[in-house]
Amino acid sequence: MMSELVISTKGLNLIYAAGKPNEVHALRDVNLQIEKGELIAITGPSGSGKSSLLHILGAMQTPTNGSITLIGKDIQNMPRNQLSEIRRSTIGFTFQSFALINHLTALDNVMVPMYPVNPPWLRDRAEELLDRVGLGNRMSHYPHQLSGGEKQRVAIARALINKPTIVLGDEITGNLDSGTGLEIFKLIKDLNADERITFLLVTHDLQLAALCDRQISMNDGKLSDQI
Ligand SMILES: Nc1ncnc2c1ncn2[C@@H]1O[C@H](COP(=O)(O)OP(=O)(O)OP(=O)(O)O)[C@@H](O)[C@H]1O
Ligand SMILES: [Mg+2]
Repeated sequence: MMSELVISTKGLNLIYAAGKPNEVHALRDVNLQIEKGELIAITGPSGSGKSSLLHILGAMQTPTNGSITLIGKDIQNMPRNQLSEIRRSTIGFTFQSFALINHLTALDNVMVPMYPVNPPWLRDRAEELLDRVGLGNRMSHYPHQLSGGEKQRVAIARALINKPTIVLGDEITGNLDSGTGLEIFKLIKDLNADERITFLLVTHDLQLAALCDRQISMNDGKLSDQI
């Protein structure tokens, strides 16, 4: 099969509060190439830069320097509206903190990224996804009526609503018991195999990481392939 890069970064650096006393060099010279259809685990200690990297790859944060190519497009200096469009059409993202909207039901939370486009299949797909993450009977619940693991599963369904090319999952199973975590991972494996969705999963679960095709570990802002 022809290789097809979906993410490519060169010399990414991220410095928070540059030049200030509380400066943090969160990413150091990150070079990363990801091909379509890969299922990748990113592991590493707390504070090593995993979430920061994911936010940058999801075009939600700008690096201090370095370049990122997403689906063959250089996203540096890309106008905001074009960037939002790329994000909406190709990226699924789950935040470590879930980031659900409190005044919307589970079903609406799943649909919300696609409201601006409002495709005819939106509601059906949202219901199907909630079903697949085991929340078919929680669709009209609001976030405060859901357990932590259920919120996480809503966030996973939301990340898949736009039929993304790439899913960036930050601690996707972090709040789930091992049985439910494995179920979700099976769903990810299926989507990866059937739809060739590329997954980049940040996880502290080394067993889960071992089930991915490739492991990348981060340490103090630096990447190294393999654990
Ligand atoms: N907005 C910010 N301002 C300043 N420093 C930040 C900010 N966000 C993160 N940091 C710092 O950058 C470093 C990397 O943070 P990041 O959240 O990427 O780590 P992580 O690997 O995801 O950790 P965890 O496993 O705990 O989620 C940390 O030292 C953190 O304190
Ligand atoms: Mg994190």
